[in-house]
Amino acid sequence: MNVLGIDIGGSGIKAAIVNTITGELVTERHRISTPKPATPEAVANIVKEMVTHFDWSGIVGCCFPTIVLDGQCKHKGNLSKEWVNVRIDHLFKKTCGGLSFYVSNDADLAGLAEVSLGAGKEMNGKIFVITIGTGIGSGLFYNGTLIPNVELGRIYHKNGEIIEKHVADSARKKDNLSLEQWAKRFDLFLHHVKTLHTPKMYILGGGISKKFEKFKRFLTVDIPVKPAQFRNNAGIIGAALYAIKKNK
Ligand code: BGC
Repeated sequence: MNVLGIDIGGSGIKAAIVNTITGELVTERHRISTPKPATPEAVANIVKEMVTHFDWSGIVGCCFPTIVLDGQCKHKGNLSKEWVNVRIDHLFKKTCGGLSFYVSNDADLAGLAEVSLGAGKEMNGKIFVITIGTGIGSGLFYNGTLIPNVELGRIYHKNGEIIEKHVADSARKKDNLSLEQWAKRFDLFLHHVKTLHTPKMYILGGGISKKFEKFKRFLTVDIPVKPAQFRNNAGIIGAALYAIKKNK
Protein backbone atom coordinates (compact mmCIF):
# COMPACT_ATOMS: atom_id res chain seq x y z
CA MET A 1 0.00 0.00 0.00
CA ASN A 2 1.15 3.56 -0.69
CA VAL A 3 1.15 6.12 2.15
CA LEU A 4 2.34 9.71 2.44
CA GLY A 5 5.24 9.99 4.90
CA ILE A 6 6.32 13.39 6.23
CA ASP A 7 9.50 14.02 8.20
CA ILE A 8 9.43 17.28 10.16
CA GLY A 9 12.97 18.26 11.08
CA GLY A 10 14.62 21.21 12.78
CA SER A 11 15.77 22.63 9.43
CA GLY A 12 13.70 20.94 6.73
CA ILE A 13 10.34 19.26 6.24
CA LYS A 14 10.58 16.38 3.75
CA ALA A 15 7.90 14.14 2.34
CA ALA A 16 7.23 11.46 -0.26
CA ILE A 17 4.72 8.75 -1.02
CA VAL A 18 6.09 5.41 0.20
CA ASN A 19 5.43 1.82 -0.81
CA THR A 20 4.99 0.35 2.67
CA ILE A 21 5.79 -3.22 1.57
CA THR A 22 9.24 -2.47 0.14
CA GLY A 23 10.01 0.90 1.73
CA GLU A 24 10.67 2.45 -1.67
CA LEU A 25 9.71 6.03 -2.38
CA VAL A 26 7.23 6.01 -5.22
CA THR A 27 7.53 9.75 -5.84
CA GLU A 28 10.33 12.29 -5.76
CA ARG A 29 11.03 13.62 -2.29
CA HIS A 30 9.76 17.15 -1.71
CA ARG A 31 11.52 19.46 0.77
CA ILE A 32 10.43 22.76 2.28
CA SER A 33 12.55 24.65 4.85
CA THR A 34 11.20 24.54 8.39
CA PRO A 35 9.60 27.93 9.11
CA LYS A 36 11.29 30.21 11.64
CA PRO A 37 9.88 30.43 14.25
CA ALA A 38 8.56 26.88 13.93
CA THR A 39 5.24 27.54 15.66
CA PRO A 40 2.38 25.01 15.50
CA GLU A 41 0.48 27.15 13.02
CA ALA A 42 3.47 27.74 10.73
CA VAL A 43 4.45 24.04 10.69
CA ALA A 44 0.84 22.90 10.17
CA ASN A 45 0.64 25.17 7.13
CA ILE A 46 3.71 23.52 5.60
CA VAL A 47 2.19 20.09 6.30
CA LYS A 48 -0.90 21.24 4.41
CA GLU A 49 1.32 22.44 1.56
CA MET A 50 2.87 18.95 1.42
CA VAL A 51 -0.54 17.26 1.31
CA THR A 52 -1.56 19.59 -1.53
CA HIS A 53 1.75 19.07 -3.35
CA PHE A 54 1.16 15.29 -3.43
CA ASP A 55 -2.59 15.74 -4.03
CA TRP A 56 -3.00 13.29 -1.15
CA SER A 57 -6.29 12.19 0.41
CA GLY A 58 -5.32 9.05 2.38
CA ILE A 59 -3.79 8.49 5.82
CA VAL A 60 -0.54 10.32 6.66
CA GLY A 61 2.42 9.22 8.79
CA CYS A 62 4.50 11.94 10.33
CA CYS A 63 7.85 12.16 12.12
CA PHE A 64 8.18 14.85 14.73
CA PRO A 65 11.56 16.09 16.04
CA THR A 66 10.89 15.87 19.77
CA ILE A 67 9.13 13.79 22.43
CA VAL A 68 5.67 12.62 21.34
CA LEU A 69 3.32 10.66 23.57
CA ASP A 70 0.07 9.40 22.05
CA GLY A 71 0.10 12.14 19.40
CA GLN A 72 0.86 14.89 21.90
CA CYS A 73 4.05 16.98 21.94
CA LYS A 74 5.81 16.76 25.32
CA HIS A 75 8.89 18.95 24.78
CA LYS A 76 9.69 21.96 22.61
CA GLY A 77 12.85 20.29 21.25
CA ASN A 78 14.41 22.51 18.59
CA LEU A 79 11.02 23.91 17.51
CA SER A 80 9.16 26.44 19.66
CA LYS A 81 7.71 26.43 23.16
CA GLU A 82 4.14 26.80 21.86
CA TRP A 83 4.29 23.12 20.86
CA VAL A 84 4.28 21.77 24.41
CA ASN A 85 1.08 19.75 25.02
CA VAL A 86 -0.27 20.33 21.50
CA ARG A 87 -2.08 17.27 20.06
CA ILE A 88 -0.03 17.27 16.88
CA ASP A 89 -2.20 14.69 15.11
CA HIS A 90 -5.38 16.66 15.84
CA LEU A 91 -3.84 19.95 14.71
CA PHE A 92 -2.67 18.50 11.37
CA LYS A 93 -6.00 16.76 10.84
CA LYS A 94 -7.86 20.02 11.34
CA THR A 95 -5.50 21.99 9.09
CA CYS A 96 -5.66 19.35 6.34
CA GLY A 97 -9.42 19.03 6.00
CA GLY A 98 -9.92 15.95 8.17
CA LEU A 99 -7.16 13.59 6.95
CA SER A 100 -5.99 11.08 9.58
CA PHE A 101 -2.47 11.72 10.89
CA TYR A 102 -0.27 9.31 12.87
CA VAL A 103 2.59 11.18 14.51
CA SER A 104 5.57 9.97 16.53
CA ASN A 105 9.18 10.84 17.34
CA ASP A 106 11.45 11.12 14.27
CA ALA A 107 14.27 8.85 15.44
CA ASP A 108 11.80 6.24 16.67
CA LEU A 109 10.21 6.18 13.22
CA ALA A 110 13.49 6.27 11.29
CA GLY A 111 14.44 3.31 13.47
CA LEU A 112 11.20 1.54 12.66
CA ALA A 113 12.08 1.71 8.96
CA GLU A 114 15.62 0.43 9.53
CA VAL A 115 14.62 -2.38 11.89
CA SER A 116 11.67 -3.52 9.74
CA LEU A 117 13.16 -3.23 6.26
CA GLY A 118 16.68 -1.78 6.41
CA ALA A 119 20.05 -2.16 8.14
CA GLY A 120 18.60 -3.75 11.30
CA LYS A 121 16.26 -6.19 9.59
CA GLU A 122 16.09 -9.57 11.34
CA MET A 123 18.61 -8.45 13.98
CA ASN A 124 17.86 -9.47 17.54
CA GLY A 125 19.01 -7.88 20.78
CA LYS A 126 19.37 -4.21 21.57
CA ILE A 127 19.89 -1.81 18.67
CA PHE A 128 20.26 1.94 18.76
CA VAL A 129 19.32 3.92 15.67
CA ILE A 130 20.91 7.34 16.05
CA THR A 131 19.94 10.19 13.75
CA ILE A 132 22.40 13.02 13.33
CA GLY A 133 21.08 16.34 12.09
CA THR A 134 20.01 19.57 13.78
CA GLY A 135 19.71 17.41 16.91
CA ILE A 136 20.64 13.90 17.95
CA GLY A 137 17.73 11.48 17.79
CA SER A 138 17.74 7.99 19.25
CA GLY A 139 15.48 5.03 18.58
CA LEU A 140 15.96 2.03 20.86
CA PHE A 141 14.81 -1.42 19.72
CA TYR A 142 14.89 -4.72 21.55
CA ASN A 143 14.28 -7.81 19.40
CA GLY A 144 12.66 -5.55 16.82
CA THR A 145 10.31 -3.86 19.31
CA LEU A 146 10.55 -0.11 19.81
CA ILE A 147 11.09 1.27 23.30
CA PRO A 148 9.83 4.79 22.59
CA ASN A 149 11.11 8.22 23.56
CA VAL A 150 14.67 7.47 24.57
CA GLU A 151 16.42 10.83 24.40
CA LEU A 152 20.17 10.20 24.24
CA GLY A 153 20.81 13.64 22.76
CA ARG A 154 19.54 15.26 25.94
CA ILE A 155 22.13 13.69 28.24
CA TYR A 156 24.09 16.49 29.91
CA HIS A 157 27.52 17.12 28.50
CA LYS A 158 29.04 19.88 30.63
CA ASN A 159 27.69 22.90 32.51
CA GLY A 160 24.16 21.59 31.97
CA GLU A 161 24.51 21.81 28.18
CA ILE A 162 22.98 18.84 26.38
CA ILE A 163 25.27 16.53 24.41
CA GLU A 164 23.52 17.12 21.05
CA LYS A 165 24.85 20.69 21.10
CA HIS A 166 28.33 19.14 20.98
CA VAL A 167 27.91 16.16 18.64
CA ALA A 168 25.00 16.85 16.25
CA ASP A 169 25.66 17.84 12.63
CA SER A 170 24.60 21.37 13.58
CA ALA A 171 27.51 21.40 16.09
CA ARG A 172 29.95 20.35 13.33
CA LYS A 173 28.79 23.32 11.28
CA LYS A 174 28.63 25.76 14.20
CA ASP A 175 32.12 24.84 15.48
CA ASN A 176 33.56 24.64 11.95
CA LEU A 177 34.83 21.10 12.47
CA SER A 178 36.39 18.89 9.82
CA LEU A 179 34.65 15.56 9.33
CA GLU A 180 37.49 13.91 11.26
CA GLN A 181 37.22 16.30 14.21
CA TRP A 182 33.49 15.85 14.35
CA ALA A 183 33.66 12.04 14.01
CA LYS A 184 36.13 11.81 16.90
CA ARG A 185 33.71 13.75 19.09
CA PHE A 186 30.85 11.57 17.98
CA ASP A 187 32.89 8.44 18.64
CA LEU A 188 33.27 9.44 22.31
CA PHE A 189 29.50 9.74 22.49
CA LEU A 190 29.10 6.24 21.01
CA HIS A 191 31.55 4.88 23.61
CA HIS A 192 29.62 6.58 26.41
CA VAL A 193 26.26 5.23 25.23
CA LYS A 194 27.77 1.78 24.87
CA THR A 195 28.84 1.88 28.52
CA LEU A 196 25.37 3.00 29.56
CA HIS A 197 23.31 0.56 27.49
CA THR A 198 25.46 -2.23 25.99
CA PRO A 199 23.74 -2.20 22.60
CA LYS A 200 24.57 -4.88 20.06
CA MET A 201 24.74 -2.50 17.14
CA TYR A 202 24.43 1.16 16.13
CA ILE A 203 22.69 2.32 12.97
CA LEU A 204 23.45 5.90 11.99
CA GLY A 205 20.94 8.02 10.08
CA GLY A 206 20.29 11.67 9.32
CA GLY A 207 21.86 13.86 6.64
CA ILE A 208 25.47 13.11 7.58
CA SER A 209 24.94 9.35 7.12
CA LYS A 210 25.54 10.04 3.41
CA LYS A 211 29.18 10.67 4.38
CA PHE A 212 29.47 7.46 6.43
CA GLU A 213 32.13 5.93 4.13
CA LYS A 214 34.31 9.02 4.72
CA PHE A 215 34.08 9.11 8.53
CA LYS A 216 33.73 5.45 9.53
CA ARG A 217 37.50 5.06 9.95
CA PHE A 218 37.43 7.51 12.87
CA LEU A 219 34.94 5.42 14.83
CA THR A 220 36.66 3.13 17.32
CA VAL A 221 33.71 1.79 19.30
CA ASP A 222 33.92 -2.01 19.28
CA ILE A 223 30.42 -2.99 18.21
CA PRO A 224 29.09 -2.95 14.62
CA VAL A 225 28.19 0.51 13.33
CA LYS A 226 26.19 0.60 10.10
CA PRO A 227 24.80 3.50 8.08
CA ALA A 228 21.02 3.60 7.77
CA GLN A 229 20.13 1.68 4.61
CA PHE A 230 17.53 4.33 3.80
CA ARG A 231 19.94 7.11 4.70
CA ASN A 232 18.10 10.37 5.28
CA ASN A 233 14.81 8.95 3.94
CA ALA A 234 14.43 6.54 6.88
CA GLY A 235 12.13 8.99 8.70
CA ILE A 236 9.76 9.40 5.75
CA ILE A 237 9.61 5.63 5.27
CA GLY A 238 9.18 4.88 8.99
CA ALA A 239 6.39 7.46 9.21
CA ALA A 240 4.48 5.70 6.43
CA LEU A 241 5.00 2.28 8.08
CA TYR A 242 3.79 3.69 11.39
CA ALA A 243 0.60 5.08 9.82
CA ILE A 244 -0.25 1.69 8.31
CA LYS A 245 0.40 -0.05 11.62
CA LYS A 246 -1.74 2.40 13.65
CA ASN A 247 -4.58 2.61 11.13
CA LYS A 248 -5.49 -1.08 11.52
C1 BGC B 1 15.00 15.76 20.24
C2 BGC B 1 14.70 14.36 19.81
C3 BGC B 1 14.77 14.26 18.30
C4 BGC B 1 16.10 14.77 17.80
C5 BGC B 1 16.21 14.73 16.29
C6 BGC B 1 16.32 16.23 19.64
O1 BGC B 1 16.53 17.57 19.96
O2 BGC B 1 15.08 15.84 21.65
O3 BGC B 1 13.43 13.96 20.26
O4 BGC B 1 14.59 12.91 17.94
O5 BGC B 1 16.30 16.10 18.22
O6 BGC B 1 15.26 15.54 15.70
